[in-house]
Amino acid sequence: MREFQVTPWEVSGEVDYERLIERFGTSEIDEPLLRRIERLAGGLHLLLRRRIFYSHRSLDWILDEYERGNRFVLYTGRGPSGHTHLGHLMPWMLTRWLQEKFEAKLLFQLTDDEKFLFKQELSLEDTKRFAYENALDVVALGFEPDKTEIFLNTEYIKSQYRLALKVAKRTTFSTAKAVFGFGNDTNIGLIFFTCMQSAPCFLETERQGRAVPVLIPCAIDQDPHFRITRDAAPHLGYPKPALVHCKFFPSLAGGSKMSASSPESSIYTTDSPEEARRKIMNAFTGGQESVAMQRRLGGRPEVCSVYSYLSYIFEQDDARLEERQRACRAGELLCGECKQYLAERVLEFLEEHQRRRERARDRLEEFMVRD
Ligand code: TYM
Repeated sequence: MREFQVTPWEVSGEVDYERLIERFGTSEIDEPLLRRIERLAGGLHLLLRRRIFYSHRSLDWILDEYERGNRFVLYTGRGPSGHTHLGHLMPWMLTRWLQEKFEAKLLFQLTDDEKFLFKQELSLEDTKRFAYENALDVVALGFEPDKTEIFLNTEYIKSQYRLALKVAKRTTFSTAKAVFGFGNDTNIGLIFFTCMQSAPCFLETERQGRAVPVLIPCAIDQDPHFRITRDAAPHLGYPKPALVHCKFFPSLAGGSKMSASSPESSIYTTDSPEEARRKIMNAFTGGQESVAMQRRLGGRPEVCSVYSYLSYIFEQDDARLEERQRACRAGELLCGECKQYLAERVLEFLEEHQRRRERARDRLEEFMVRD
């Protein structure tokens, strides 16, 4: 198998998620842990049931604390380099569910600083504009205004800077190089940036003057930042943040990760129905070269981006998903039919999301914090 790479700024190759657990030193969300979440939450979110959220750090500790009456705070975020795509919504959907089930407060960081530093072509005005656009998608998912704080780093720096500094002092350049692969040509803003992403992990503990547990839902690419945070935490007198990691929502071109840098193979929440449908109809599938071959040999759902989409969130019914897989392998189902089916599901989702997103414009200020 080709070597793969996963960092917050680059994902390449075919990701082997089991090996990533070993490489990063995280733990699998196993059956007993799933049962425990199910018991406490009164159910399991689809993304947990389907093992899309599959890895964690210290989730058992978060649940221990919860059972002792010490509620956790949720923390997640977005680097506003463009519009939101469906992949970004995965961690936020689980976060939304966790907020409801565990009555948890959420801190949502928009790293307009990070994307300004990382993307040559983006100005601070651009990343600010995208931050406010992305915030609409967050609000559209139904977070509770009295339990949710959304902020741009450039607009909430005073509250975070002291915490970022404390992490910076504990983190050497050689650690940052080893974790992120920085070289001599990396701008120095990016070298410091990881400390900004750490800051919200400690914010609530500072505010309340007691150890407040923090749980971070994210895709596994963000884990390297929080390894640094977790190393620093005990030295600073803060609890280590816990994490739950998801796999990447795939690219429509068949790659491991839907990526904002390839617009034709990503579906954005702002796409028109025509755009979304066109992208899906052009998607990479596990089909054979001709209808006759497909009927004879069957398709390969394991490499099919359309099947992945359905199995991540767009076919919620387990029995129907199973039947689709069987019919595909048996050559009874053709790729065109499957794409049509997916397009209908995605368009339904987009229509509803876009309605909620527009309504969010008037409510955004209920969620934003600045200092
Ligand atoms: P960003 O903007 O790259 O991604 C936002 C969130 O989406 C996750 N993600 C994905 N999840 C599933 N499938 C995909 N294809 C996919 N692509 C991205 C990311 O893991 C992330 O959770 N530096 C961060 C912003 C940030 C943050 C945080 C993220 C600030 N604080 C705390 C998570 C937790 C960033 O650029 O994310």
